[in-house]
Amino acid sequence: GDLHIINKDLSPDGFKRSTVLAGASANKASFPGPIIKANKGDTFEINVIDELTDPSMDRSTSIHWHGIHQHHTIWADGPTWVTQCPIVPKESFQYKFSVPDQAGTFWYHSHHRAQYCDGLRGAMVVYDPYDPYKKLYDVDDENTIITLSDWYHNTSTFLIQQPGPKIADSTLINGLGRWSNQPNGQLAVVNVEKGKRYRMRLVSLSCDPSYTFAIEGHNMTIIESDGQSTEPLAVDSLQIFAAQRYSFVLHANQPVGNYWIRANPSLGTSGFAGGINSAILRYKGAPNKEPANNATSPNGKLLNETDLRSQRGVPGKPVPGGADLVLNMTIGFIAPDTFTINDVPFVSPTTPVLLQILSGAQKPEDLLPSKSIYPLPRNKTIEINFSLSDPAGAPHPMHLHGHHFSVIKSADSQQYNFKNPVERDTVAVKANTTVAIRFRTDNSGPMFLHCHIEWHLVAGLAVILAEDTGDVRTENPVPPDWNKLCPNWNNTPADI
Ligand code: C2O
Repeated sequence: GDLHIINKDLSPDGFKRSTVLAGASANKASFPGPIIKANKGDTFEINVIDELTDPSMDRSTSIHWHGIHQHHTIWADGPTWVTQCPIVPKESFQYKFSVPDQAGTFWYHSHHRAQYCDGLRGAMVVYDPYDPYKKLYDVDDENTIITLSDWYHNTSTFLIQQPGPKIADSTLINGLGRWSNQPNGQLAVVNVEKGKRYRMRLVSLSCDPSYTFAIEGHNMTIIESDGQSTEPLAVDSLQIFAAQRYSFVLHANQPVGNYWIRANPSLGTSGFAGGINSAILRYKGAPNKEPANNATSPNGKLLNETDLRSQRGVPGKPVPGGADLVLNMTIGFIAPDTFTINDVPFVSPTTPVLLQILSGAQKPEDLLPSKSIYPLPRNKTIEINFSLSDPAGAPHPMHLHGHHFSVIKSADSQQYNFKNPVERDTVAVKANTTVAIRFRTDNSGPMFLHCHIEWHLVAGLAVILAEDTGDVRTENPVPPDWNKLCPNWNNTPADI
């Protein structure tokens, strides 16, 4: 189908601003964007049409389908200057890709500069008709998707130019929230019926903060992390970092009533803790009002990532470094506003890396930006060790395109797990500890690896893994309109 990208004034928290939105038609454009749904095995064909007009923001765009591997279609992955040129105003581009072996909870967002912070973000679900966990829940539909996001009253274009941390003005759940000057605005309501079990799909659309998430009076049995099934694990609350997803089963087994859905942001006070509250879980038959209990902090058992178990093993040998290739990546910070990996800030090339590869540059040393490119051979086990040079550095949710990975050492533990650690596509790297991941190289193309705090990405916290460059051309046939994107771009330098 079509996805129109438009500018529109919106006030999801009571403050009106110009935004960048997606919709099946221009007048259906919304925040969050429309839920994109498919079944395992389906092919997506999404025609993205750039109808942006607001001169105060960037008018180019592109969309990334976060968590989708893009085997044989790496040209449809989305990050501008990595796998494509931006789509310019009045142009369109068709993303076509299939999901033969993936199911779960994903999302999509602009991958052009920090544009998704202006609104271009939404949930995407790939249902598995043969989900082995089906017997654990009764309901799994559009109403069981819960999106969390930070919301800013200024445009990303403006915020990027301001030095220092950018603090969101509000926390939105399913696109609704309250700003401190508008403490009585409408909140999202998630409706349940007593006795039923719901597969809730929690999606962080965040540009920056993590959220400590809980539902008053209910526990959550986690069954999925970032599109990978886990062994069921019951917790009372969890911390979800930017771009991560969880599915959990919620059993509506409490007295009929209203219960707070709490999302406490790691930055700022505009979530539950600020007294502005977050969203409401409402049982059928309960009065149309807010929960009475206003306790500010969720309590009970907080998820420790190390307790999450996948159902698959880990590639490589069960010792640290037991992989074909080990890469160490140290995250650094240069005041006031530059981030580095192994001392190099990522600077976007002016020709997409994929185009460089297809034009004949196959050796990593020929690719730009050369100091940020790490070659990966095909059919090997890769281990990456992340650490932070700054002991006061914020947790960085590191995301790898084209793969999911096993978290053999989480920031939540000193121990390695080589047997059945959680698998995901975005992992939090924290100060004073190492986080180690493993995956097999079974894809080909330039894979972006970056911090999913958008302000850090635009400040350099990224590298590119050039995977199996020799096979990119034969493995990823590009459609003619992919080729057309770049000359158009060069003709409109005003949109840089
Ligand atoms: Cu969801 Cu490169 O990002």
